[in-house]
Amino acid sequence: MLLQTEGLTKSFDGLTAIRNLDFSVAEGEIRGLIGPNGSGKSTLFNLISGIYQPDANSGRITFDGEDITDLSPHDIAARGVGRTFQLLRIFHEMTVLENLLVGHHHHVRYGILSASMGLGRVWSEERRIKERMQELLHFVGLADFAGMPASELSFGQRRMVALARAISMEPKLLMLDEPAAGLSPANVEELQTIIGLLRERRGMTIIIVEHILKVVIESCDTVTVLDHGEKIGEGTPGEIKDDHRVVEAYLGREMDDEEVRAALAE
Ligand SMILES: Nc1ncnc2c1ncn2[C@@H]1O[C@H](COP(=O)(O)OP(=O)(O)OP(=O)(O)O)[C@@H](O)[C@H]1O
Ligand SMILES: [Mg+2]
Repeated sequence: MLLQTEGLTKSFDGLTAIRNLDFSVAEGEIRGLIGPNGSGKSTLFNLISGIYQPDANSGRITFDGEDITDLSPHDIAARGVGRTFQLLRIFHEMTVLENLLVGHHHHVRYGILSASMGLGRVWSEERRIKERMQELLHFVGLADFAGMPASELSFGQRRMVALARAISMEPKLLMLDEPAAGLSPANVEELQTIIGLLRERRGMTIIIVEHILKVVIESCDTVTVLDHGEKIGEGTPGEIKDDHRVVEAYLGREMDDEEVRAALAE
């Protein structure tokens, strides 16, 4: 397993957001993570990426064979865990390209080294990185927007900037928190293509939190369902679709077959 949580628990003032969770993701897998609002999906991402600490003596997170439970967000990112945020954290006053370069800074080999490298090397290194970022922008459909301030982009395009920035870190594991929210149907298709290519070409393992079930059903190998911080189901998209308990918890109410089918076809 590339990622494993064992007995993971996280509480906020008496509210248990993640409860005794065992969750594993194999290398190369595309995993869907679904559940109603407040079921703990983003909290799980925050625990894995080190932004939150689990409750004392309440679980362990292993990544790529190493216990990362007590590592800082920076050290976890450096080991190959990348993510996007549900509320985008991009810099609106910077250009698209600058947003990528900022995210990329700890891969850059100048800084402390630049004094001994000489300026020529620094410039060629910088040029190389800019070229790679341009390729990446092309990959996410933003090739023509590199010099534009992020504030002038549509919401969907900003999502793509955040995605490109996460990809630019070349993570082994990429966690996407509602990547399709606010995208047009055509852009959702494009996103799904990108997700498939990230695995095929770059061998990334991907976890997707998503309310748009089409994305989960079409793009994921396996789906984990959370409710009140607990795992209430796990299986292929087909198995999850047929599990009434899961679909009802997910959509927050009881439904007949027809309604379930209609919701899944959305
Ligand atoms: N920093 C925090 N402080 C207090 N409570 C929090 C904090 N972060 C999350 N919670 C609570 O933990 C629970 C799980 O929240 P979380 O954001 O993980 O849900 P989610 O499944 O991502 O929901 P959504 O689909 O709405 O994004 C919620 O009750 C939320 O209010
Ligand atoms: Mg969330």
